[in-house]
Amino acid sequence: MDTYDVLVIGGGPGGYVAAIRAAQLGFSVACVDAYSRDGKPSLGGTCLNIGCIPSKALLDSSEKFELLSHEYADHGITVEGAKIDLAKMLGRKAGVVDKLTGGVAYLFKKNKIKSYHGYGKLTRQDGDGWVVQIGFEGQASSEVKAKHVIVATGSNPRSLPLASFGGNIVENSGALEFSEVPKRLGVIGAGVIGVELGSVWRRLGAQVTVLEALPGFLLPADPAVSKEALKQFQKQGLDFHFSVNITEVKDNGTSVSVTYTEKDQSVTAEFDKLIVSIGRVPNTFGLGGENVGLELDERGFVKIDAHYRTNLANVYAIGDVVGGAMLAHKAEDEGVAVAELIAGQAGHVNYDVIPWVIYTSPEIAWAGLTEQAAKDRGLNVKTGQFPFSANGRALGHGDPRGFVKVVADANTDKVLGVHMVGPNVSELIAEAVTLMEFGGSAEDLGRTVHAHPTLSEAVKEAAMGVGKMAIHL
Ligand code: FAD
Ligand code: NAI
Repeated sequence: MDTYDVLVIGGGPGGYVAAIRAAQLGFSVACVDAYSRDGKPSLGGTCLNIGCIPSKALLDSSEKFELLSHEYADHGITVEGAKIDLAKMLGRKAGVVDKLTGGVAYLFKKNKIKSYHGYGKLTRQDGDGWVVQIGFEGQASSEVKAKHVIVATGSNPRSLPLASFGGNIVENSGALEFSEVPKRLGVIGAGVIGVELGSVWRRLGAQVTVLEALPGFLLPADPAVSKEALKQFQKQGLDFHFSVNITEVKDNGTSVSVTYTEKDQSVTAEFDKLIVSIGRVPNTFGLGGENVGLELDERGFVKIDAHYRTNLANVYAIGDVVGGAMLAHKAEDEGVAVAELIAGQAGHVNYDVIPWVIYTSPEIAWAGLTEQAAKDRGLNVKTGQFPFSANGRALGHGDPRGFVKVVADANTDKVLGVHMVGPNVSELIAEAVTLMEFGGSAEDLGRTVHAHPTLSEAVKEAAMGVGKMAIHL
């Protein structure tokens, strides 16, 4: 039986990063992953195959089409007869995915990590190690042994009890693969996937209706940010309905009818395709946790302590399957931390400054506490806000929507949170995260020289605004 120091179950951002870091630290490492794309093993998990990467590739392609069709005229550029070749667009996206998933396979080889394809099932403890069965249901399997096991089996889309996935009712992977642009697209859930994929298909020509159970929109974001984002999305034509209760979903083969109540009225809407994006659930399928007594919480997440240890000796868990922010970069950083902890080092993730980014237009990004969350903790806060409409670079780009808001402790000036909506804020947030990681103050940020003219000057000015020192406002 092949024996390793560390076996990682799951080859997504949590698992593959844990494997690489463990190999760097001198362990013998293997990773078992079950995912197949077009019938072939494909490392990288949800993120690289059917999540972060393909969705961003389509967001970029569709945004280029939108800019060409509607925005470039303001720059004095008109293009007659712009057309979409959807097959080519999807092919480009697949090419990006191939490059990155192949890149993970290359990194495994480079770091001498043995890669297995199949489900990794915990079976028993044998001496100082765990025996894990590898294979697919109904097919021949093999066994490997490892002293330490890291579970990184990720998550799956949550389905509506009223409507299982299939046919015209799709989850994220189906929503990345429509062979033609649906004329009428329904989206259930105005969360991150709803607004990102809703934006893709709207830009390509779909009429998009978003049905959301809650009265609010992107609730974890600062309310000023979500209010601005909602205003912009509605202006683009996304049709939001809040506080709805879905009562029936029927796939008629050629279309889907969705019945919901809104303001006490029952409404039935007809869509060509329906995306259900109502959150994700932990995935422990095929892991064999029940055979060995792996403890899960009441929602099915693997229970861990502060060092990613499960209730089983030398079995750890990270990423989406343990809950918290279901984000690739959170899973990756947990992968690094758990490998270092296994090596006796002080691996650590600072959960207070995990950035969130939503890749719509305008983009949305934040890290740290909102103004309200800081007040709820009894902190005395002061804020600074700067609009992109007063930023030279944003005006030059032709995209002066949105603002940057900095929340700081009124007593110490320490930056507690930074919230942005506007152009390229997915990149601007990194500066705020670094500053918060070092416990920096608003004045530190405001007195740091930023190149002119750049969008980053809006971050500096918002920070200066905390001390009432903004120059261009
Ligand atoms: P996963 O990526 O889910 O990987 C788990 C892997 O384990 C899978 O390959 C699975 O097949 C395998 N597996 C499961 N069980 C077993 C088993 N028993 N044996 C062997 N293998 C097994 N996050 C961001 O940060 N930024 C984004 O822009 C972003 N966009 C997203 C867009 C979409 C449409 C979706 C759906 C998600 C997006 N996410 C994004 C979230 C991100 O994809 C996840 O947070 C991330 O993939 C979690 O990583 P993970 O390693 O925990 O699990
Ligand atoms: P989400 O949690 O972001 O949003 C789900 C939405 O569905 C919520 O607004 C919720 O109130 C609503 N909802 C739940 N049940 C409903 C019902 N019965 N009827 C109507 N609405 C209902 O989940 P989503 O969009 O599925 O994304 C899952 C996760 O994937 C995200 O939370 C995030 O962790 C990750 N992701 C991250 C991205 C990024 O970082 N840019 C992009 C896409 C996904």
